[in-house]
Amino acid sequence: MASVSVANARKNYGHLEILHGVDIEIKDGEFVILVGPSGCGKSTLLRMIAGLEEISDGRISIGGRVVNHVAPKERDIAMVFQSYALYPHMTVEANMGFSLRLAKAPKEEIRTRVREAAEILGLEKLLDRHPRNLSGGQRQRVAMGRAIVRQPQVFLFDEPLSNLDAKLRVQMRSEIKQLHQRLKTTTIYVTHDQIEAMTMADKIVVMRDGYVEQIGSPLDLYDSPANRFVAGFIGSPGMNFIEGKISNDGPIEFIAQGGARLPIPTDVTVARGQDVVYGIRPEHLTINQGGAQAEVMLIEPTGAETQISVDMGGATIVATVRDRLALRAGDTISIAADPSKVHLFDVVSGRTLIV
Ligand SMILES: Nc1ncnc2c1ncn2[C@@H]1O[C@H](COP(=O)(O)OP(=O)(O)OP(=O)(O)O)[C@@H](O)[C@H]1O
Ligand SMILES: [Mg+2]
Repeated sequence: MASVSVANARKNYGHLEILHGVDIEIKDGEFVILVGPSGCGKSTLLRMIAGLEEISDGRISIGGRVVNHVAPKERDIAMVFQSYALYPHMTVEANMGFSLRLAKAPKEEIRTRVREAAEILGLEKLLDRHPRNLSGGQRQRVAMGRAIVRQPQVFLFDEPLSNLDAKLRVQMRSEIKQLHQRLKTTTIYVTHDQIEAMTMADKIVVMRDGYVEQIGSPLDLYDSPANRFVAGFIGSPGMNFIEGKISNDGPIEFIAQGGARLPIPTDVTVARGQDVVYGIRPEHLTINQGGAQAEVMLIEPTGAETQISVDMGGATIVATVRDRLALRAGDTISIAADPSKVHLFDVVSGRTLIV
């Protein structure tokens, strides 16, 4: 196991810079997830850590050793790709032992290590099969098995679950997390799925357009997003954003462009009349217990909870409630926000105003 340090890492293709000085410190044994929208540079960064892409500038270290010019196979890492990249003509056992055979490890040792990994992953009965005779989830496990047998310092995963159906994805998500709890190998995992990031990571790195927007534990990012982008990216359904300003006189509160008045936290420094973006998560709104008037547009029950979309003075807002309310589209209701859960953002920079 090893720590991984990415310092001011840049990547250009010709004149086009796509990673603009990324800094990430990963502790020994940590499970870190790089998350962000398509094209933000997650795979590129992971491939730079793996040594499959050159670093244009900056420094990447694994276990305290700078690896900028170290070949991939000398970095003591194992990567699992989205495509799994299994050899179709080899059995599961041969696939899993391939890298050890390549490294000329003794036959008996290969056998033992493959059997151990197969046991961890529940593949013991499938060792003689070929990949084409496996389900998607089983193939995914073989790809992980191939990484495990190498006993690397660091596991690198690039969207390993994106080929699986929703149910299997949830199952494999907990399997990978349990595997990490057992092996405690430093892991860097790329996904664009914020739920995967929230449920699996010790630490999340949110990226956008080649920049790191915020690094923190899942609940840090949920509770204290540094800016509007992170606030909107983490959480589902996403945070509501309402444009408006702080009241000029009377009680200090938020006045939406449509006229609705909403409470703001007490510990925030804002000026009277200041334009702000108001952020509140659907689960922090309450219905019909006072507050601003709104019209029900859509009701979406999921079973455990119900999502209610309302029109509040021209702004569409989603509220999540656990009670089964007898509501219909067109009804007028009141919406109240828990002021301690409100976020205020700078209109121009998008930065969080609450300190
Ligand atoms: N060889 C290349 N030449 C030029 N641009 C490239 C090259 N490879 C990647 N890019 C660009 O770099 C950016 C980052 O790509 P990358 O594959 O790292 O994104 P990603 O975050 O992994 O996205 P996704 O979620 O879609 O996999 C993209 O805008 C992509 O078009
Ligand atoms: Mg990618």
